[in-house]
Amino acid sequence: RPLRPQDVPAETMVGVFPEGNVDAGDAPAFAVRLDPGRFSRPPAGGQLDGLAVWSLLCTHAGCPVRLYLKGTGRVLCPCHQSSFDRLAGARPIAGPAARPLPGLPIEVGPDGFLRATGDFTAPPGAGFWSRP
Ligand code: FES
Repeated sequence: RPLRPQDVPAETMVGVFPEGNVDAGDAPAFAVRLDPGRFSRPPAGGQLDGLAVWSLLCTHAGCPVRLYLKGTGRVLCPCHQSSFDRLAGARPIAGPAARPLPGLPIEVGPDGFLRATGDFTAPPGAGFWSRP
């Protein structure tokens, strides 16, 4: 179902898909609202009063990064323990992942619902998925 910005509570991960891509294997994403004053590096896809969306797929081998250390801005991948700092561009700060989580650019449409304005800022998931 479509989400409005107020449907995303502070410091809570909400799973989302870009509209029309619910069945795409590389489309899972998550939205989180963080304190915008805490970003040391802006989210790659931009932010709306602290609300930002990133790919859910770990850039190491593609597992879902579903473990959230609430209050820290960090998410962990349970597969090989990569950690990403969403307050600093979702860059990897521990573990084998070498690339930041790609961001998803968003806006609020005229109907008040969130929508993606483009593709992820980088290929989602494992780097080897996008090699020719
Ligand atoms: S798949 Fe995430 S750390 Fe390996």
